Amino acid sequence: MTMRKVDFSGSYFFVTTLLLLLPLFVSTKAAAAASGLFIFGDSTVDAGNNNYIETIPENRANYEPYAQNGFFQEPTGRFSDGRIIVDFIAEYAKLPLIPPYLQPHIADFSNGVNFASGGAGVLSTTHSGLVIDLERQLKYFEQVRKSLTEKLGAAKAEEVISEAVYFISIGSNDYMGGYFGNETMQQLHGPEEYLGMVIGNLTQAIQVNYKQLSFSFSMLLVKIVLIYNISVTKNCMRKAPENLVS
Ligand SMILES: *[C@@H]1O[C@H](CO)[C@@H](O)[C@H](O)[C@H]1NC(C)=O
Ligand SMILES: *[C@@H]1O[C@H](CO)[C@@H](O)[C@H](O)[C@H]1NC(C)=O
Ligand SMILES: *[C@@H]1O[C@H](CO)[C@@H](O)[C@H](O)[C@H]1NC(C)=O
Repeated sequence: MTMRKVDFSGSYFFVTTLLLLLPLFVSTKAAAAASGLFIFGDSTVDAGNNNYIETIPENRANYEPYAQNGFFQEPTGRFSDGRIIVDFIAEYAKLPLIPPYLQPHIADFSNGVNFASGGAGVLSTTHSGLVIDLERQLKYFEQVRKSLTEKLGAAKAEEVISEAVYFISIGSNDYMGGYFGNETMQQLHGPEEYLGMVIGNLTQAIQVNYKQLSFSFSMLLVKIVLIYNISVTKNCMRKAPENLVS
């Protein structure tokens, strides 16, 4: 994914990628099972969910030259020549590769699962109908929670959920496709208003989920690493290419 710097008629416009990384894999017990890893976001972290939805080829990565470094035998749907960042995090945490949620027959969610979808944004209007937007990703997470509860019982399921690491990488598509690629949107909303919508909805999504999660999870949120406002510069590009998808 390429981060574009954009000029927006003199006002700062933030291309936002939010990484919520709770670095909690550390365990004092050497052989203890690692926590799960739950992933939300766009093509930066999609492990193949878009292979299972109706979409356009640009939103998929299940063809060459993807995967050309040979780590995977064939293109998997990752927008990469091999692994993506969450694969390395999983490896570091001694977890298996985290499967895309829509892959059939996932036997066990206790290691976490990946809900990300290439092209997705925070707003449901971003690449609408062609991606799994954040709201839907969070609904899927609720289903995983229910499934864990049925399988493991409430107490154990809550333990899995609260000890898990949550990784979110999303936001750039709301600007590239959702705003620059949509004249109607630009007419309806000024840049700052639109920015407020993206940040507002992202904040809301995290807060709603956060309230539903257990107390121990909310304590752990103190450790959030927030990388926000990655690219803000005037006088660069006037307009990002419309077909840029991340
Ligand atoms: C463009 O934005 C408008 C207004 O939000 C929305 O209704 C429409 O679906 C968007 N168009 C595309 C192609 O996403
Ligand atoms: C979320 O986005 C919608 C448009 O998709 C907007 O109407 C609403 O105000 C936003 N919510 C927040 C809390 O910013
Ligand atoms: C956010 O953008 C402003 C304006 O360019 C900059 O001064 C600030 O350092 C940025 N913050 C982060 C965390 O990158």
